[in-house]
Amino acid sequence: MVGVVKQPAADRLSDTLGRPLRDLRISVTDRCNFRCPYCMPAEVFGRDFRFLERSQLLTFEEVARVVRVAAGLGVRKVRLTGGEPLLRRNLERLVAMIAEVEGVDDVALTTNGVLLAGKAKALRGAGLSRVTVSLDSLDDATFRTMNGVDFSPAPVLEGIAAAQRAGLSPIKLNTVVKRGVNEDSVIELARYARRNGCVLRVIEYMDVGASNGWRLDDVVPAAEVMSRIDAQMPLEPLDPQYRGEVARRYRYRDGGGEVGFIASVTQPFCGDCTRARLAADGVLHTCLFATAGHDLRPLLRGDGSDAELEQALRGIWSARGDRYSELRSAATAGLRKVEMSYIGG
Ligand code: GTP
Ligand code: 5AD
Ligand code: SF4
Ligand code: SF4
Repeated sequence: MVGVVKQPAADRLSDTLGRPLRDLRISVTDRCNFRCPYCMPAEVFGRDFRFLERSQLLTFEEVARVVRVAAGLGVRKVRLTGGEPLLRRNLERLVAMIAEVEGVDDVALTTNGVLLAGKAKALRGAGLSRVTVSLDSLDDATFRTMNGVDFSPAPVLEGIAAAQRAGLSPIKLNTVVKRGVNEDSVIELARYARRNGCVLRVIEYMDVGASNGWRLDDVVPAAEVMSRIDAQMPLEPLDPQYRGEVARRYRYRDGGGEVGFIASVTQPFCGDCTRARLAADGVLHTCLFATAGHDLRPLLRGDGSDAELEQALRGIWSARGDRYSELRSAATAGLRKVEMSYIGG
């Protein structure tokens, strides 16, 4: 028949709300050297906390296999997260394995930056496309409060500089804003980001997991932070770079770069959510706010073929109807959601 273009199978995979699978976020460890109270409060993630055992973690080969199969279903972007992904030894080996998967055109990393200075060059060499560094304040005391372990911002700033030298720019800086704690740090962060050619992304404090004691009162709406920055350094909106972009982007009117706002509480973006999350032990989640996931390990460690793995992923994605941030309500607030350090930021 003339005129009929056969669509590749990947383009037809969509969930119950018509959303394709495009991004895979992979948590490579549930451990972290920080204890940010909004993510891993020290009282909960203390000495007795049972992190995953080494034997439970997927090997790099197993992770790469999931990436290969997921790429065949439409995944184009892979983000390595944790916990703190740089705590996983030889992470650059995994980066190299993922970077060579056909179809994957963007391999990113989210890190707290403490170990970045020593790793940036190797990561870049392995094919990492870019890096996002979490940075909640430049003020020493505020930063120490935000990371929960009394780290100063100095090693993070060195990590950012090293990443820039290695060619991993433009670097994005993620700042979670908590009312009364670091809201006054944002202007200085915006100035620092502009000066250094980084893109600041202001993130609303979310009710992820079940241990951060989240209260709506602690959330500073992104619109409020936007006006504060705009008052000092006038902004104008930019169009999204791609469908489903999480951050709403603005540029400085004087041409000095851009800033993004991730308003997952006040302006949810589930409608275009194309993200799946693979936890370090091989459990796949279809929402950041999931209470349960789909364990891929039996398939990966048994004698499951790639075709069976693909079938499993298709089944999971086709059945997906998540839109937690849009529904956020008293009814869902009591659920025992999995922790962000486990599922991947
Ligand atoms: P780029 O690829 O650089 O555009 O990054 P991204 O838009 O995927 O954002 P990033 O990975 O830096 O995520 C930043 C923050 O946005 C995360 O740490 C979360 O706080 C929030 N976030 C990311 N994805 C989701 C999501 O699917 N749902 C919700 N509710 N929040 C998300
Ligand atoms: N709210 C918003 N973002 C969070 N992150 C972790 N916990 C939260 C939360 N409660 C995100 C931050 C950090 C990344 C690793 O995870 O963006 O940069
Ligand atoms: Fe660690 Fe990042 Fe969570 Fe902070 S937000 S505790 S740095 S994983
Ligand atoms: Fe996607 Fe769930 Fe986040 Fe909504 S809440 S954007 S469905 S991960």
